[in-house]
Amino acid sequence: MWPRRRKEKMDEYIVAAAESVVIPMGQGDLNECWRLDQRCFSDGEAYDRETIRYLLAHVQSVCHKIVSPTDEMMAFVVGMIEPDNTGHVVALGVAPEHRRLGHGQHLMYEVEQGFLRRGVSTVRLEVRTSNAAAQRLYLNLGYKIVRRMARYYTSGDDGYLMVKSLL
Ligand SMILES: CC(C)(COP(=O)(O)OP(=O)(O)OC[C@H]1O[C@@H](n2cnc3c(N)ncnc32)[C@H](O)[C@@H]1OP(=O)(O)O)[C@@H](O)C(=O)NCCC(=O)NCCS
Repeated sequence: MWPRRRKEKMDEYIVAAAESVVIPMGQGDLNECWRLDQRCFSDGEAYDRETIRYLLAHVQSVCHKIVSPTDEMMAFVVGMIEPDNTGHVVALGVAPEHRRLGHGQHLMYEVEQGFLRRGVSTVRLEVRTSNAAAQRLYLNLGYKIVRRMARYYTSGDDGYLMVKSLL
């Protein structure tokens, strides 16, 4: 039998998945995505509206959102296939009130599948060295820290480069 806490967690994940849907995100989602990005990255590292417009419109981007039954955007991921054919997870954000329900890992799965469908076999991303929550999510999904990047963020914070092979 599963430990009680683990069973409760699985039940939470199942309910959250049943009450949401993952769909591709496009240019029509610009305003909602921008607002959610601002809420998720209130530390000053949020993208400006024009950057999000560019990312959503790019032919090499792979973008998904999770929406509630009332069509509210609860979470989003923006991936980009870079010129070296690696998949780059540019942004991942889950609304604060919808966290720890599996949405982050669900979106990572979707973006990886999107990359795979387009012939990408290696994924990379950057994460703040202080962002333990995101690091744990990525480590659990098989990403490895390959390098520390000094002062990577505009705030002066260091970042980790993390990489995963999809093969
Ligand atoms: C990081 C973030 C995307 C995680 O989204 P989420 O939907 O809450 O994550 P999930 O529910 O899929 O979590 C999966 C696992 O990741 C780890 N994890 C996620 N959040 C965590 C936290 N706050 N503390 C510790 N571990 C955490 C856990 O192992 C978790 O599994 P568990 O809940 O069964 O213990 C979300 O917290 C967020 O949007 N943060 C602000 C923006 C950000 O930091 N984005 C990533 C930038 S690189």
